Amino acid sequence: KSLKIQAGVTVSTTKDTAALGSDIDWENIGFGIRSTDFMYVMKTDRSGEWRSGELLPFGNLELSPAAGVLNYGQGLFEGMKAYRTQDGSAVLFRPKENALRMISGAKRMCMPAPSVGDFTAAVKSTVKANVRWVPPHGKGSLYIRPLLIGSGAILGLAPAPEYSFIIYVSPVGNYFKSGLAPISLKVETFYHRAAPGGTGGVKTIGNYAPVLKTQLDAKDQGFSDVLYLDAAENKYVEEVSSCNIFTVKGNTISTPETLGTILPGITRKSIIELARDMGYKVKETAVTVEELLDADEVFCTGTAVVVNPVGSITYGDRRVTYSDGGVGKVSRALSTSLTDIQMGRSEDKFGWVEQL
Ligand code: COI
Repeated sequence: KSLKIQAGVTVSTTKDTAALGSDIDWENIGFGIRSTDFMYVMKTDRSGEWRSGELLPFGNLELSPAAGVLNYGQGLFEGMKAYRTQDGSAVLFRPKENALRMISGAKRMCMPAPSVGDFTAAVKSTVKANVRWVPPHGKGSLYIRPLLIGSGAILGLAPAPEYSFIIYVSPVGNYFKSGLAPISLKVETFYHRAAPGGTGGVKTIGNYAPVLKTQLDAKDQGFSDVLYLDAAENKYVEEVSSCNIFTVKGNTISTPETLGTILPGITRKSIIELARDMGYKVKETAVTVEELLDADEVFCTGTAVVVNPVGSITYGDRRVTYSDGGVGKVSRALSTSLTDIQMGRSEDKFGWVEQL
């Protein structure tokens, strides 16, 4: 499909470092929303066929109050990042994986999804148009948020009659704290994030609001975030509100299997491949709370968090500290290997990095 770029819009080149926002303190940028220059919008017609997409100035959307997404939560999102490499260009990390995950989630949520080609072309156009917001090398990344929503009006419970695919971007730094700072997690034993047969395995917007209450309560108690257990037995580790979890015991790295209640993270998948390549034994398997508490190291993975070590876990009145509350050596090695690939500092032998 052709990309219409509005009159007066100049799409910058990928090497436009001179125009970087001068008012941003890149050292302390944090993870938050900033207005950037352009957003991408593509809509379907009433038969679900995608029309041409366009880059529009970043701003508010107009939606019917009866839009399917507002009333019945028919929506999915993706999280991706563009990094500035040492030579000043901007690159993407495994964008096709996000396109494929959106396609599979859209089936579950009864929505049409953009093709892999349309998705990646749209992401590239959006990043190119906002390239001055990609932080300097080593100072963070441009977070990319593709959204697929039921934007058509509907009153009875049914799939919306029209859909919108939207992409906006924001320059970001660390999700939790600065550097590789270990986080403290609280294991939640009452509330659950997902149930068998539910939507925990797709990136639907409805998976995120229900974890806010437990997250806020945990933060009030001084924890960084919450770790959820399986809803059937309250015994197996699932994931943290916004990221996947891994344990390390000797040379073995374990992470819960994605059987429908756990989000199949792209960072998760990359860490599994990378760790195997680095000589670790990696198991995708059921991980009990006891195994978690007995691990040498625990770390989280996600697009937003990248690889974040866990310093301590609290389960009821038990509290376990890993690596003396510091950064474990396996977590550090995996974090360094992954970010070196993402930022173009080491050879990309897996073919994960894509130019704009
Ligand atoms: C991401 O890691 O990109 C996510 O989508 C998690 C989000 C809650 C920030």
